[in-house]
Order: sequence, then structure tokens, then C-alpha cells
Amino acid sequence: MAKQVATNITWHEGHVEREHRNKLLKQRGATIWFTGLSASGKSTIAFTIEHALVERGHLAYVLDGDNIRHGLNKNLGFSPEDREENIRRIGEVSKLFAEAGLLTLTSFISPYRADRDRARQIHEKAGLAFIEVFVEASVELCEQRDPRGLYAKARAGEIPEFTGISAPYEEPLKPEIVLDTEQLTVVESAQTVLDCLVQRGLLAGG
Ligand code: ADX
Repeated sequence: MAKQVATNITWHEGHVEREHRNKLLKQRGATIWFTGLSASGKSTIAFTIEHALVERGHLAYVLDGDNIRHGLNKNLGFSPEDREENIRRIGEVSKLFAEAGLLTLTSFISPYRADRDRARQIHEKAGLAFIEVFVEASVELCEQRDPRGLYAKARAGEIPEFTGISAPYEEPLKPEIVLDTEQLTVVESAQTVLDCLVQRGLLAGG
């Protein structure tokens, strides 16, 4: 767990209230947290929802694991400690984005329950919606899909600590949404999440 290192720092309260941002953007900032195995469909679904939301006039943005590992988190690998730090940073960044009023979609394997729960806690403490979406697909199916040949490499021992093969994945116990990607199309999965956002009043401001 990251400890507070800096001292002599002071919290500055802004002058803009959350409700003002909600009215301006006609939506409520929130984090929609996708979790699941590599090749389960997280990013495909998240980017489909981002597109649909922007088409409807909403400000949405995907934080994608592979993309973030090219920049902000380029100094992290796949050890349990690095994955914890990866998710800690994204928990904080998504909270900031949600605070700024964005509908933030995070697409990370996020294999550890405790790390996801910490991301949830910081949102809930700040009064921001956190919707955990379990993108469900068996290891066998992900291995069949294997769009980038990573499972084959992992089986061949070329990728150590590969989630589902040689590193653990802890399924969510009480996710807000479960998407069974063995049954649902990408569009159906995206629609399920969009319906949830409407039901929770996140697509209306003020
Ligand atoms: S997480 O476990 O820390 O949440 P993250 O979602 O950021 O992982 O990155 C996962 C992506 O990194 C996978 O989709 C895959 O493309 C790539 N990757 C490379 N090595 C590994 C590995 N050992 N385990 C899982 N994914 C890996």
C-alpha cells in the first residue's frame, strides 16, 4: 500500500461545486471499472461505450491498460506489486476524472480484489459513482480468441506471470454488472452498461 511520503502539504478546496460541473456537462462524473482476463473483451466494450456516449453528446474517456502502460505507467511490469501500483494510480486518476465530471471507463485486468476495492472506496468516500463491470470469459475461451498470441507465448513460457496461466485472477464478488461475453455480442454488452448509466441518472446533469 502506498504511504504518504510528502510532508508540509496543504489541501486547497476549489470554488466550483460539483453540481455546477454536472449542470455544465449535463452528466454526473463516474467511473465504470471493467475487469476481466486479457482478451475477455474489456477494451472493445469500453471503447464502444465511449463512442456511443460521445455520439449522444456526453464527455466520456477510456483509460486503457495497454495504452496507459505506454506512458503514465511505463515504469511498471506485471509483478503483484507493480499491478497493485498500476491499479492504485488508475484508481486515483479515474477518481480525478470523475471529479472533473467525465464518464470514465477503465479497462484493466485488475486481477486483485483488494486493489479494485480500494479504487471503489476512494470513489465512494468522495461521493462518486463506481460501477464495477465483470467482463466474464473463461480462460479457455480467451485462449481460443488470443488475438495477439499472448496466451500461446505464455504457455510456451515466454511471458512469465501471465494472468490466467501463471498469475491469478480474482473474480469480483459483487460487481454491479456481469457481462457474459460467451453469450452477449459487443453491442449487447455495451447496451447493458448504457442502460445502467441511464438508470442511475448519470446521463443527466443538475
Ligand atoms: S493489470 O493486471 O495490471 O491490471 P493491465 O490491464 O494493465 O494489467 O495490462 C494487461 C495487458 O498487458 C494485457 O492485455 C496484455 O496485452 C499485456 N500483458 C503483457 N504481459 C502480461 C502479463 N504477464 N499478464 C497479463 N497481461 C500482460
